Amino acid sequence: AQPAAHVVVDPRFPVGRIDRRVFGSFVEHLGRCVYDGIHEPTHPTADADGFREDVLELVRELGISTVRYPGGNFVSGYRWEDGVGPRESRPRRLDLAWHSTETNEVGLHEFARWNAKAGSELMLAVNLGTRGVQEALDLLEYSNVRSGSTLADQRIADGTTEPFAVRMWCLGNEMDGPWQIGHRSAEDYGKLASQTAKAMRQLDPRVQLVVCGSSNRQMPTFGSWERTVLQHTYEDVDLISCHVYYHERNGDLAGFLASAVDMDRFIEDVVATADSVRAELGSSKRIDLSFDEWNVWDQERFEQQDKITDIDSWPYAPRLLEDVYTVADAVVVGNLLISLLKHADRVAAASLAQLVNVIAPIMTEPGGPAWRQTTFFPFALTSRLGRGNALRVELTAPTYPTATLGEVPLVDAVATHDPDTGQAAVFLVNRSTTDAVTVTVDLSGMGELRIAETHTLTDDDPHARNTLEEPERVAPVENKSAVLADGTLTLELPPVSWTAVALR
Ligand code: AHR
Repeated sequence: AQPAAHVVVDPRFPVGRIDRRVFGSFVEHLGRCVYDGIHEPTHPTADADGFREDVLELVRELGISTVRYPGGNFVSGYRWEDGVGPRESRPRRLDLAWHSTETNEVGLHEFARWNAKAGSELMLAVNLGTRGVQEALDLLEYSNVRSGSTLADQRIADGTTEPFAVRMWCLGNEMDGPWQIGHRSAEDYGKLASQTAKAMRQLDPRVQLVVCGSSNRQMPTFGSWERTVLQHTYEDVDLISCHVYYHERNGDLAGFLASAVDMDRFIEDVVATADSVRAELGSSKRIDLSFDEWNVWDQERFEQQDKITDIDSWPYAPRLLEDVYTVADAVVVGNLLISLLKHADRVAAASLAQLVNVIAPIMTEPGGPAWRQTTFFPFALTSRLGRGNALRVELTAPTYPTATLGEVPLVDAVATHDPDTGQAAVFLVNRSTTDAVTVTVDLSGMGELRIAETHTLTDDDPHARNTLEEPERVAPVENKSAVLADGTLTLELPPVSWTAVALR
């Protein structure tokens, strides 16, 4: 018989209010993310600032809330002053992180302008790799002080009268990673992050500060890193970062489809560590999570194919990390969003890494089109429909075995409900590689509702992709099986699929 799952949704059991910053993204000076991605002055759709309007349209459709900038590994060698002032006198630098040439055509002013056009909020990272407290303070003064100090007046002279008013700041990037320029021990980083945070708050008490957690859950110091760093910074920061990238390894599609189970555990581990440091310190304050890098990324392919090894020619805007995403990748991305929403009480911000061309939902061709990757769809739909509170759901589903995560449920789900508008949504995945699943969702506690929209992303070939040649091969379709009667929503989820149901 076809497998079946049952879900109970009740607005009386909210997990927490969904912070819109959970739908953030990330733009790094890496490959063709900035140059030939968002910025291509010779492109037919380029605006007066050289930004591609076709890309901006897709970014708006994607529904991102914040954009983390300018890195990533790039930030650990970046001098922000290189990217301000007259363009013709900006230096060309060798970027050690990605072995590329950085022309600095796009810097803080240009990117802030792009953000305003995209309708997103700017989130900046300071360089704690090759730099320290003073340079972080300088950037903050330049960005956030209205006028009357040398650096604030410099910003005005450089062309932006109003302060950038940046609220969220990352204190460096992946400082536990040996690949990171200037990486440190947890002890050393904790002290530096604490000093930087205290100084930044003295200058602008409104800032929200994100201290670096581990680069991923596989790092040998995962857990102890978070503990030590928070012991040094607990009262100085607001959030701790999490980063993770998944991909299908050795053809293990079923294991890959369970990636969100790993993300659930990751979040719960970091929350437990943060709360135990809080108890140890007797603090009344709570530290939340900024999941500021997450996505599907085949890092093995990067190691073998993308990496630039010829250090005598540092390319400009090389094709790096241009993963082409499959339907299965999109199902995982949709499921990772479910995981983030299930933890809305503690995940206050998140950034899909990255936005354009580099492990991205949006791809471009120089002089040519821009198109949506498969992963674009679950993000855009969850951002648009997932509003208000995330609701705790009771899920009963068959399980299946995986090599690394043990037995995992075949189905995953989360619901959202906006008490202000009465609108609700249910997001579901079927992780089975072979079977459709019939799901019943008990909505009897939700009051009068009707189905407003259904979207299912699936394909007979779970490895189908959108490409330059076939940019619209994959797109979500209406789920015609969905019926809502007597407070129960019944629908069929095809194998390897992600579904959103909007209810009004
Ligand atoms: O997003 C690509 C890279 O992944 C980032 O630069 C780095 O922070 C992470 O390791």
